[in-house]
Amino acid sequence: MKFPFGFCALSLVLLAQCGSGESTPPPAPTPQPPFAGTLRSVSPFPFGGAVSAGLLRSRPAYGQVAAREYSSITAENAMKMGALHPSPTTYNWTDADFVVDFARLNNARVHGHTLNWYTSLPAWVTNFSGDSTAWENLLRDHITTVVKHFRGKVASWDVVNEAFEDTGVLRNSIWVQHLGPDYIARAFQYANAADPAARLFYNDYGHEYSAAKRNAIFALVTSLRNRGIPIHGVGMQFHTSSNISDAQLASTIAQAGQTGLLVHISELDISMNPSLAPAATFTAALAAAQKVKYKAVTAAFKALPAAQRFGITTWNVADADTWRRGNCSCPEWPLPFDDNYQRKPAYDGIVEALQ
Ligand code: XIL
Repeated sequence: MKFPFGFCALSLVLLAQCGSGESTPPPAPTPQPPFAGTLRSVSPFPFGGAVSAGLLRSRPAYGQVAAREYSSITAENAMKMGALHPSPTTYNWTDADFVVDFARLNNARVHGHTLNWYTSLPAWVTNFSGDSTAWENLLRDHITTVVKHFRGKVASWDVVNEAFEDTGVLRNSIWVQHLGPDYIARAFQYANAADPAARLFYNDYGHEYSAAKRNAIFALVTSLRNRGIPIHGVGMQFHTSSNISDAQLASTIAQAGQTGLLVHISELDISMNPSLAPAATFTAALAAAQKVKYKAVTAAFKALPAAQRFGITTWNVADADTWRRGNCSCPEWPLPFDDNYQRKPAYDGIVEALQ
């Protein structure tokens, strides 16, 4: 019994009875081999992650992914002043040294974060009373001691972190209050004196959503460089989200390149729950949208002149580890690895842009 083609196509039940040779099936798609590389193996610039010393010690999958994928390592918290310098006369190097050793063992560069910040300060600093000379000594001694301790092991530093408000005005931090706005320049000079080989960065967030802030930051770094202050790069954290357009992300990265300095996307994570919905779930559609964002950021970064590409660093390894869940008290999946340390579509987006 013969049936017209249309009937064959519509009737699965009767399909077996259709005569052969009446239609040519489309060729089967060539199966794509699974990606055999890693971020560090395919990236033409350092690709890194921030890591927690505690998770490196306690969770084998965490260290395995970090070792396999990253050619650059940042300590998520271990090098902040509050962690490193618990009293005026004591330093606690244990966690920071552990992270540095992990990176050396795995042949990864170490980026230091951060010598100066308005927060994550030890109580003795927040409570410190002294004149401007005493504050200057405190700033200089901390930077000098830390940079010297890691000299030859830490390639680069976020010297000053988050000095600006989103409006583009300088934050009224304890450093500004006690030392005036030019403490920033002196912090770079102290770091440079302690390790002339280290690459020195000004690091901040919000470039992609506040024109006032990014213009103020790019003006500051340009003016520091023009004054001969030893600054080599600009770090853009990019704790960003699905509601920032690809074009906006790309033009921000290109504008950073206009400074002529090294550019570091230093703390990348991409929120897929920007409205902080308490019952949100990570759907396939969100995963696909996140892939597009990661690909857009990576492609825009790759488009910078090679000599300015300091690298991309994600802020932690997997969704299980992200600070953003704690920060928003909401469901979040901002990283390229899922809660089980498996690669997400976001990972494929990065790879597609890198290859
Ligand atoms: C965050 C860490 O991820 C958290 O674990 C910690 O509790 C607070 O700091 N900008 C920065 C990073 O420069 O140091 C911050 O890291 C995230 C925002």
